[in-house]
Amino acid sequence: MQRRNFIKGACIGSMVAFFANSKLLASSKKLLTFEEVKANTDDKITVPKGYEAKILISWGDPLFKKAKQYDESKNIDKNAVTNASLSFGDNTDGMNIFKLSKTRAILAVNNEYINPEIMFKHNGKNLSKDDILYEQNSLGVSIFEIEKRGNFYSVVLDSKYNRRITAHTKIAVSGPAKSSVLGKEKFVYGTLNNCANGKTPWGTYLTCEENIDDFFGFNDNEFKLNENLKRYGFSKESLYGWEKFDERFDISKNPQEANKFGWVVEINPFDKNSTPVKRTALGRFKHENAELVIDKDGTVVVYMGDDEANEFLYKFVSKHKYKKGVANPKILDEGILYVAKFDGKEDDFRGKGKWIALEFGKNGLNKQNGFDSQADILINARLAGTVVGATPMDRCEWIASHKESGQKELFVSLTNNKARTQANSANPRAKNIYGHIIKFWQKNTHKDEEFFWEIFVLAGQPDNKSGLYKGSKNINTQNKFNSPDGLKFDKDGRLWIQTDGNYSNKGDFEGMGNNCMLAADPSSGELKRFLVGPIACEITGLAFNEDSTIAFVGIQHPGENLAPSTFPNGKTPRSSIVMIRKLDGGVIGT
Ligand code: FEO
Ligand code: CA
Ligand code: CA
Ligand code: CA
Repeated sequence: MQRRNFIKGACIGSMVAFFANSKLLASSKKLLTFEEVKANTDDKITVPKGYEAKILISWGDPLFKKAKQYDESKNIDKNAVTNASLSFGDNTDGMNIFKLSKTRAILAVNNEYINPEIMFKHNGKNLSKDDILYEQNSLGVSIFEIEKRGNFYSVVLDSKYNRRITAHTKIAVSGPAKSSVLGKEKFVYGTLNNCANGKTPWGTYLTCEENIDDFFGFNDNEFKLNENLKRYGFSKESLYGWEKFDERFDISKNPQEANKFGWVVEINPFDKNSTPVKRTALGRFKHENAELVIDKDGTVVVYMGDDEANEFLYKFVSKHKYKKGVANPKILDEGILYVAKFDGKEDDFRGKGKWIALEFGKNGLNKQNGFDSQADILINARLAGTVVGATPMDRCEWIASHKESGQKELFVSLTNNKARTQANSANPRAKNIYGHIIKFWQKNTHKDEEFFWEIFVLAGQPDNKSGLYKGSKNINTQNKFNSPDGLKFDKDGRLWIQTDGNYSNKGDFEGMGNNCMLAADPSSGELKRFLVGPIACEITGLAFNEDSTIAFVGIQHPGENLAPSTFPNGKTPRSSIVMIRKLDGGVIGT
């Protein structure tokens, strides 16, 4: 009977249907045995009783012996610019671990963007050409070896794997849009806004480009933005102002440059001399992560979200099959990109959906509707999604596949959406300030064009809100949170949820504290807060060592907008990766 109230304020009839298949509730064994931590606004990492946390690396820490330690004086000159390319980048985000031996591994980590207000003495208000170069070397991807020494891991300086990929690194382009993107050139340069990530079973790292418009602007007042540029958020004045110092980022001079970003980029972390590849078959949008699954017959399917208000959910289905241990570069170059259309009755919180192929000549994707080729569709995936009737979502962030589930469930976080005017079944709140997580699955294979879905959790405020804003039944005073973002399953099937939300701890968000990491039992819906981050940070990026006794957790932008954080060492607030262990050496989450 209790389950009927899972979504408070919804009609009882629909709730019976909503829980018709929730048998798992009764049978699941207890997954979350750690002692829940309380929300707080402290400037530190809070972990459960019986756990400890230690910093692995912070923005500006050397990856090579010749690099200098982070310079608190913030003097930016030519040496500082070079030093940035030899050091861990800013704003740690998605990451993956690649095993080398029992005690050694490679970490590949995204450095999403930069915080000029923290980075410079002038707080970003008086940028110079050197400052821009410093920023360009402080984002991208950091790859480095780690080694277990005692209870925790340490960074191995000068390892043959250590590498920085920046806004200047030479990158190849492949797939159907290759020649459209490259024009007469052989390579593109740089990767930008590397948000979340993915990993292939053939040992490569996928880094996903998100808010690429933040780096481009234009100086020519006569320049007019076309429909593509507008839809992807480009405007005259960029957030970072690179167009004022670097012609490459002036779209009135180099309109083609904008199409070189917004892709999923594949990197071989085992060979620092390898050239990363932008895989255009996976579509161009503001990518969050790339969750790759292998279907029964070897087909590779990549689930991807576009994180902007009212944009879409996608999946790529490969034409070629994966054979164990074989790195076939064609797999991510040939296949079909689909976009999701959700159906369902409002207040039902579950329904069906359709994957619609974004293929030239099908579903209205033709010359009459402005598409000249498959390349055109992939470069303008958002416009193509609109033509085929995809469902505008509440900002798709990470997608995680639950491999233990018989039905191969996937979970996607919809972080929030303040721009929605009309609710729909899968996005049931017109003003979604708290976010939600949807579970979806296909009946037979990941190739199915039909899918099923239900809402796993509606985040909310049970203590001072009513109706759907209270959140679903599994939200309570202790675990309440907003803006789910990072999602990852561990080896035992715990769903880890990282937040990137409002940390005011006031009003609508009272009692939610700083951004945090929670664990959920995907069967019972139970949710517990595991970790609280420092002031003004976002928690993003998660990896576990092989036996899951160490969790690597990304702490992004502590002290952003000059909030009073001095994390991690009492000085300049710096984005960092922390390691979490249980004092008894047990599995994280127990
Ligand atoms: Fe980079 Fe959507 O988070
Ligand atoms: Ca994110
Ligand atoms: Ca986010
Ligand atoms: Ca962020």
